Amino acid sequence: MNAPLQTGPTGESPHGRKGDAPSERVRPARRMVFDFWRPLRRHGPLGLAIRACGLLQKRLNTAPGCRRPLLWLEGVIRGVHRRLDGAFDRQHGTDTSGVVPVENLGVASESLKEAVWYEPMSVKVFRQIMDHLPIAFGEFEFIDFGSGKGRVLLLASARGFKRVTGVEISPQLHRIATQNVAIVERRTGRPSGIETVCLDATAFAIPAAPLVIFFYSPFKGNVMGKVLSNISSSFARNPRDIVLVFYGRNPESIALLKATGFPCRELKLRNDWSRLHQYRSLLFASPEVQGC
Ligand SMILES: C[S@@+](CC[C@H](N)C(=O)[O-])C[C@H]1O[C@@H](n2cnc3c(N)ncnc32)[C@H](O)[C@@H]1O
Repeated sequence: MNAPLQTGPTGESPHGRKGDAPSERVRPARRMVFDFWRPLRRHGPLGLAIRACGLLQKRLNTAPGCRRPLLWLEGVIRGVHRRLDGAFDRQHGTDTSGVVPVENLGVASESLKEAVWYEPMSVKVFRQIMDHLPIAFGEFEFIDFGSGKGRVLLLASARGFKRVTGVEISPQLHRIATQNVAIVERRTGRPSGIETVCLDATAFAIPAAPLVIFFYSPFKGNVMGKVLSNISSSFARNPRDIVLVFYGRNPESIALLKATGFPCRELKLRNDWSRLHQYRSLLFASPEVQGC
């Protein structure tokens, strides 16, 4: 005789509720995999581990002996991230890594209310985005709004843009970016075509050339609105090829970008699992740009 199916007090079996069809019984297992997979895809293994540490720290705040190992684990995860992200600097002898919180940007400006902290772009993701642009790079100028320590500028310069400009509000970060550009120019023995400007992005005059404009989530709200309105006015005066690239997640910024009226395309890219945050990559191209 077959052993009776073990049930709990509410009639559940180890595989599902008593009487469930076999497909229903496997659903909780599938859901568990799904519940784990979704945040894993969204945040990546390092990002998810950091979040789990934060959550456990909050939950176990009062449990003696738990806080220290969790802080240690968080330190290890951040160390792994730093090590992986530092590959660019080890290769080029530059200093583009690390996170700088908004309060340490060293500038007193209204715009800082809408600013996002400094964190360098993923090299892997930036290269994939550039591979998706169906344009002749040599005919375009490239602008990075919120250029920080200049990593994106150096990567864009390697693509052969006619000119590369970085606009950064923080004097400290601007100084580091200028040094990084000089280091790479010395090493390669070639001018990079990079110009670094220390300025609030809202005050930057948009050049009247074909443009690729890059936003790695540098600011939001009114500041994003003003910069996009400057771009739209420049385009209205002089319709031309303009590609806006947005790498981030802020829904308000995405809505503002959509309001430019430039058709939008979301890129399906391979995530960079060495990062603590995974973001969306969106292209907004003026109708003049073929194939975007
Ligand atoms: C996420 S980081 C961008 C990193 C950079 N693009 C790179 O090369 O990887 C955002 C940057 O935007 C800068 N930022 C924030 N508000 C700004 C503003 N109003 N004008 C110019 N830069 C700004 C911050 O100082 C920070 O360096």
